[in-house]
Amino acid sequence: MNGAIFSKKKIIYYDVMLFEEDVMDYSDKLRIIENIVKAPLFSVVGFTMNKIIYVTTLEGVRSLWLMDISNKEKIKLAEDVSSVSNVVQGSPYLLYTRDVAKGKELHKAFIVNIESLEQYEVSSLAPRRITNGCFDGEKFAISSSTESILDLWIIKPDASAEKVYEANKLFFAVDLEGDKIVGEGLLRGDPRSQELFIFNINTGEFQVFTPKEGSTNRNPKIHDDSILFATTAFGKEKLVVMNLGNGELIEPEMSFDEYRKYEFNEYVDFDWDSNGKIWFIAVRNGRTKVFYDGKLIKLPEGFTHYFVPAGDKYYATWSSLTSPHKILEIDSKSGEVETLLGEELPNELRNLLGRSRFFTYKSFDGLEIPAFVIENGSIGKPGPTIIYVHGGPWYSVNDSWNRMIASLVASGYHLVAPNFRGSTGYGDEFRKLDIGDPGGGDLMDVVYAARWAKENNLASKIAIMGYSYGGYMTFLATVKEPDMWDAGVAGAGITDWEELYELSDALFKQFINTLFTGKRELLAERSAKSYVENLKAPLCIIHSQNDSRTPLKPVLKYVSRLLDLGKKFELHVIPDMGHVIVRVEDAVKILFPGIIFLDRELKK
Ligand code: 4NP
Repeated sequence: MNGAIFSKKKIIYYDVMLFEEDVMDYSDKLRIIENIVKAPLFSVVGFTMNKIIYVTTLEGVRSLWLMDISNKEKIKLAEDVSSVSNVVQGSPYLLYTRDVAKGKELHKAFIVNIESLEQYEVSSLAPRRITNGCFDGEKFAISSSTESILDLWIIKPDASAEKVYEANKLFFAVDLEGDKIVGEGLLRGDPRSQELFIFNINTGEFQVFTPKEGSTNRNPKIHDDSILFATTAFGKEKLVVMNLGNGELIEPEMSFDEYRKYEFNEYVDFDWDSNGKIWFIAVRNGRTKVFYDGKLIKLPEGFTHYFVPAGDKYYATWSSLTSPHKILEIDSKSGEVETLLGEELPNELRNLLGRSRFFTYKSFDGLEIPAFVIENGSIGKPGPTIIYVHGGPWYSVNDSWNRMIASLVASGYHLVAPNFRGSTGYGDEFRKLDIGDPGGGDLMDVVYAARWAKENNLASKIAIMGYSYGGYMTFLATVKEPDMWDAGVAGAGITDWEELYELSDALFKQFINTLFTGKRELLAERSAKSYVENLKAPLCIIHSQNDSRTPLKPVLKYVSRLLDLGKKFELHVIPDMGHVIVRVEDAVKILFPGIIFLDRELKK
């Protein structure tokens, strides 16, 4: 391409006089996107031996670090890390995983000793999709999936590994202590309920437990033969403690006023500390509050992702829609909050992000749909607007940092992020509304978000954009409601659920069965492939070559149909990466083509 067309000066090009406003300035765009995605992730994992363990993307890739609290010395433990086990206070060991297949999510496990800094690869564990790893101070448990089966492994700090259980059911290890691994899963074959399991390492017994048939139970944390978990057995989600000795179920003391006042929708996370005191993060309308040992821990408005009590100090991972991730240090006596790691955005970028606001709107059937709207601080209303569709689908947009949302808004768009039916954070009844109906009611909620944006004078032109399940919704929305959109950007999307099922590993086959409640006839009915001839809006398709969750193959077939039908589209295939965006550079590769396309289609 001709370099001259990128310059901001008045230029002569093919004898045509072009002025500033006609010229797309790619370098400015790129700088904004880069500065947003470079804002590093900081995420506290735990505290042990007077050191904070944390994950950061400060150097461009997800890396595992420690910081010595006494002298603030930092040491990098590992690069290119996918996940990290919990940390046990008093033990120097932790387990982390790395993708060894260029994004295909085939992981290997590694053990690191944070005192000696020695590391070992768990060599007897063949690469597999590791879904979770946990630690009790003596041994690790992991859950994983292969092409054909899901399984549980025990791994010792000497890096020896032993498979202890396998089954073709959806289940995840959450915690372990002594001879028990506890976890969660869809263990009764009912896609709308979730049970707990207690696996006995000595006897091999896999015991399924639910306080009430049909309830959703999750995140069991074990301490001194009691498990703390969240359950909907008694209505709205509650935290309960079960004594594994006598099976007695009690509710931890939460009658304190501050807790009752907030009417939370759900819990984000919770655990025991090493003395058996409980902390939890509760969420309401996309914002959280943290409680520890019955007391509210005062933190800025936004979203706390994780909390680590460590004696005199507490540590928390915190962010908001307009403020990137930080690790906060809280003084337990004074309550004073300081930023230990992380920085604010430069002012010019912060101002572009304008303000974010939670609201609800009515969908086609009268259901109230929660959403966030973020208005760009420099364009007027109505202006070009993006309907951003989150992934999952059991996920949500909260008042927490999201580099895609921030990049879009800073690039000159208003943005509406609907938490369509099926989203988490608004109670289990709401979450379950997409089960058996993906691409049905949830799609209409997204369409009604676009109507809201038009009716409320926010949107001039309107595009739909999403990644993964959000990419799926983009493909489907642009063919089922073709007149609603001026453009669509589908990242890592799904065009054909039938082919996706055939290409999926054991975990994702179970996932699809759950989402569709086994209704195989729905797979084609809810695929954009079946309606491709309806497409009107130009489409920008961005997909990683090595994606093993939403593989590229069916998308290439869709593109071939677009070509035959003479539809307007562009296709960007990104090599050497998979579904998960691990590197800062990869985030730019995904976002830049999307934003250039949107500028062309929405701002012309
Ligand atoms: P994601 O979307 O959770 O947003 O990454 C999905 C990816 C894969 C599948 C479903 C949703 N799947 O069933 O394979």
